[in-house]
Amino acid sequence: MHTVTANGAAIPALGFGTFRVDKADTLRMVPHVLKLGYRHIDTAQIYGNEAEVGEGIANSGVPRGEVFLTTKVWVDKYRHDDFLRSVDDSLAKLRTDHVDLLLLHWPNEAVPLAEQIGALNAVRAAGKVRHIGVSNFSTALMAEAARLSDSPLVTNQVEYHPYLSQKPVLDAARKAGLSVTAYYAMADGKVLTDKVLAGIGARHGKSVAQVVLRWLIQQDGVVALSKTVGETRAAENLAVFDFELSAGEMAAIHALAEPKGRIVSPQGLAPAWD
Ligand SMILES: NC(=O)c1ccc[n+]([C@@H]2O[C@H](COP(=O)([O-])OP(=O)(O)OC[C@H]3O[C@@H](n4cnc5c(N)ncnc54)[C@H](OP(=O)(O)O)[C@@H]3O)[C@@H](O)[C@H]2O)c1
Repeated sequence: MHTVTANGAAIPALGFGTFRVDKADTLRMVPHVLKLGYRHIDTAQIYGNEAEVGEGIANSGVPRGEVFLTTKVWVDKYRHDDFLRSVDDSLAKLRTDHVDLLLLHWPNEAVPLAEQIGALNAVRAAGKVRHIGVSNFSTALMAEAARLSDSPLVTNQVEYHPYLSQKPVLDAARKAGLSVTAYYAMADGKVLTDKVLAGIGARHGKSVAQVVLRWLIQQDGVVALSKTVGETRAAENLAVFDFELSAGEMAAIHALAEPKGRIVSPQGLAPAWD
């Protein structure tokens, strides 16, 4: 698996996501995917499975130092002291003294962005976090966050799949040296019945899920997340490093983007999108 380099971070291009993965499935899947060869696990305080992610890594036999581990601070922990306490709590649950990447999960205007970025930098300076970043940030918020931060941000984790163009975010991230981490690659299952994607897959002997993940990781500076509670699918989704999409196929997939392609935009959390 290749790594995406971004402002000093080397991030494995494919991460295993744990959103909507319950405790039992997390305990089963995390060691399984690490044994398969995944080296990047994505969780969050709000997912309620950090303890099982930590236990799963410990049970996997893969040394902690070989795993790129991301968690995200939830929006109700953005005041400085709450933030620091929540990170200590996450580290205890994850059974580690540091995470590789810590993100602000969504914007929250109720707390000054400078305070949120200050807390990210404080935990990084304390050695509890190797790299910092944001999630669900618009280009305007991303620029403001980067301006406020002493250490560079390494990613903006956003919804990204064939039906949603993220061109403004990608362009701005590349210019500032950040990666873009794509979530909802399967567009909540919608891609799976797409005829264009199925046609491209047939040419390569690959499934639609593999085509979509390949399309993401073949883009400069893009990291893809993939979630499944199935062992067979986890192996399928990892088998995307042994084929290449042509420029024409990449363009055909980009052309599937729709103006109303965004799926995730929770009221009270979502910013003014680009
Ligand atoms: N920062 C944020 O706000 C945010 C928001 C959403 C997600 N995320 C992160 O991104 C990760 C990925 O997003 P996601 O979990 O929503 O969705 P996803 O990876 O797009 O997967 C969506 C669904 O597709 C199914 N699937 C996976 N592989 C498949 C395959 N090969 N064939 C057919 N179906 C397949 C899975 O169902 P089964 O499990 O039944 O296989 C899964 O529920 C999350 O787990 C989380 O870590 C972050």
